[in-house]
Amino acid sequence: MTVPDLQKCKRDRRKIAVVTAYDALFARIVEQAGIDVILVGDSLGVVVQGKSNTLSVTMEEMLYHTKLVAGAAQRSLVIGDMPFLSYQVSQEEALRNAGRFIQAGAHAVKLEGGAAVADRVSAIVKIGVPVMGHLGMTPQSVHQYGGYKVQGKGKDRAQQLLEDAQALEASGAMGIVLEAIPAGLAKTVTEALTIPTIGIGAGPHCDGQVLVLYDLLGLFDEFVPKFVKPYAHLKVDALQALRRYKEEVEQGTFPSDSESYH
Ligand code: KIV
Ligand code: NA
Repeated sequence: MTVPDLQKCKRDRRKIAVVTAYDALFARIVEQAGIDVILVGDSLGVVVQGKSNTLSVTMEEMLYHTKLVAGAAQRSLVIGDMPFLSYQVSQEEALRNAGRFIQAGAHAVKLEGGAAVADRVSAIVKIGVPVMGHLGMTPQSVHQYGGYKVQGKGKDRAQQLLEDAQALEASGAMGIVLEAIPAGLAKTVTEALTIPTIGIGAGPHCDGQVLVLYDLLGLFDEFVPKFVKPYAHLKVDALQALRRYKEEVEQGTFPSDSESYH
């Protein structure tokens, strides 16, 4: 999967499935399942690091996880998520940090914001790095929103989001994540753009969908938004396995003869 392939998906009306991954083990599983876009999301701050938001994730941490994923992925498009403060401060920093993701093995970067970051997007695109935008409930602005809340509600907010999406497209963005916005607005935006929209909590009309891997697998249950669908219940399985292991160690039934060397 390449960036031009993604554009072709939209033209051919072939829906794009995206998931996050943060390490080689899961990157391989995701790829084996035929999913062709992997986002190394700064959501790792929450699901891997256990923080309450993504704001403290650093470039060094993102690059480490990007290297793990990119080193394992063979056919997938790997997108590195630019963390808070890695693109906001200056164009120079944004360019250098975007480039560092590419050096770590990513094929593209993602950053949050609309018209306000349009200059950054076009500067990064000009050095040959594809950029995915991210609009709606952008987690790096959580304090401005006062929590993780649906965005783009009401006529004015909806119009503003549409204009932000058009500004991103005009800046050369190759796609846009739409997070936690009404399905009708996501449909309008998707139809207004020639670049693909990737929804999360944005209804069924987007050109693709993205989910956080550990949400999808039912591993992370501390905070489960309405838009998450757990396709497995791996936390339940893990708990069961660990409890049985503990029991068998305590009872002396593990290891048995077949797990022992003679
Ligand atoms: O960090 C992340 O995982 C994301 C996706 C949920 C879009 O930004
Ligand atoms: Na993110």
